[in-house]
Amino acid sequence: MTARLEALPLSGGILLVGAGKMGGAMLRGWLEHGLPAEKVVVHDPSPPEEIAELIGHWGVATGLEACKGRDFQAVVLAVKPQAMADVIPPIQYFRGVDTVVISVAAGWTIANFTERFGSDAAIVRVMPNTPAAIGRGMMVACPNGNVTDKHRALCDALIAANGETAWIDDESLMDAVTAVSGSGPAYVFLLADTLAEAGKAAGLPASLANRLARQTVAGAGELLYRETVDPATLRKNVTSPGGTTAAALSVLMADDGLALLMKRAVAAAKKRGEELQD
Ligand SMILES: NC(=O)c1ccc[n+]([C@@H]2O[C@H](COP(=O)([O-])OP(=O)(O)OC[C@H]3O[C@@H](n4cnc5c(N)ncnc54)[C@H](OP(=O)(O)O)[C@@H]3O)[C@@H](O)[C@H]2O)c1
Repeated sequence: MTARLEALPLSGGILLVGAGKMGGAMLRGWLEHGLPAEKVVVHDPSPPEEIAELIGHWGVATGLEACKGRDFQAVVLAVKPQAMADVIPPIQYFRGVDTVVISVAAGWTIANFTERFGSDAAIVRVMPNTPAAIGRGMMVACPNGNVTDKHRALCDALIAANGETAWIDDESLMDAVTAVSGSGPAYVFLLADTLAEAGKAAGLPASLANRLARQTVAGAGELLYRETVDPATLRKNVTSPGGTTAAALSVLMADDGLALLMKRAVAAAKKRGEELQD
């Protein structure tokens, strides 16, 4: 059960910069989990229509003018990486002594931010993923040395509105994190697609194959979410020796099967992440 955000000790509030897919999902999560709307200012000249409606519905203040005189506890940066350099100078002004800067931008390192915000800035770099939009994200957070327990607690509370948080201290793990949880939802969507294709090849009508694959992946994901046992145990629980599932798994679990492919896929994503930072 996610904590409500009404009680957060926020005198000045939160500045959200960029309210597109990720920033908008975060904003929705905060408001729906009780963050008082007057505690947020959104800076995004052209948010998507549904986020503009959300902002209007809750009466959230917008624009840099609305930031004047406020003492933000957190500045959350959710613009595309290529827009980040332009975004930072105007908002520098609104960072106070106790502000934590939280970035969800891929590829922007803590060093990139300290260069711009100064070595005294408290920075948390977060790698979210798309299920954050439905409150089921996996957000991995990496703090710099200026981040205090109070900052961490605030980040935890804000992130919890969109999913789970894991903290890492070693930023060099971020490319591997991105390769697993950041890009991971796409691998699962591909699994649903390829399962449907295989169903068609096995003789099912296309619409039925699509439906079976989609519901199977979604249902199995939900089961995994609700159960506390590990995925290998869940798999074993549905595999009778000599049965149909075992026959399929003998193919998927062969030496050149899914484990090898997944290792190669994750390694490729990690390598690409490293290249993008060079
Ligand atoms: N979406 C994901 O699943 C996901 C996953 C992991 C990480 N992220 C990270 O999240 C960040 C945002 O991604 P996104 O998918 O949410 O992008 P997005 O949908 O394009 O949202 C970014 C928003 O920022 C606005 N913006 C652009 N320049 C701005 C400026 N100077 N000041 C204020 N707002 C500005 C954009 O407006 P315009 O549309 O008018 O440019 C847009 O509304 C990225 O850095 C990405 O790496 C996203």
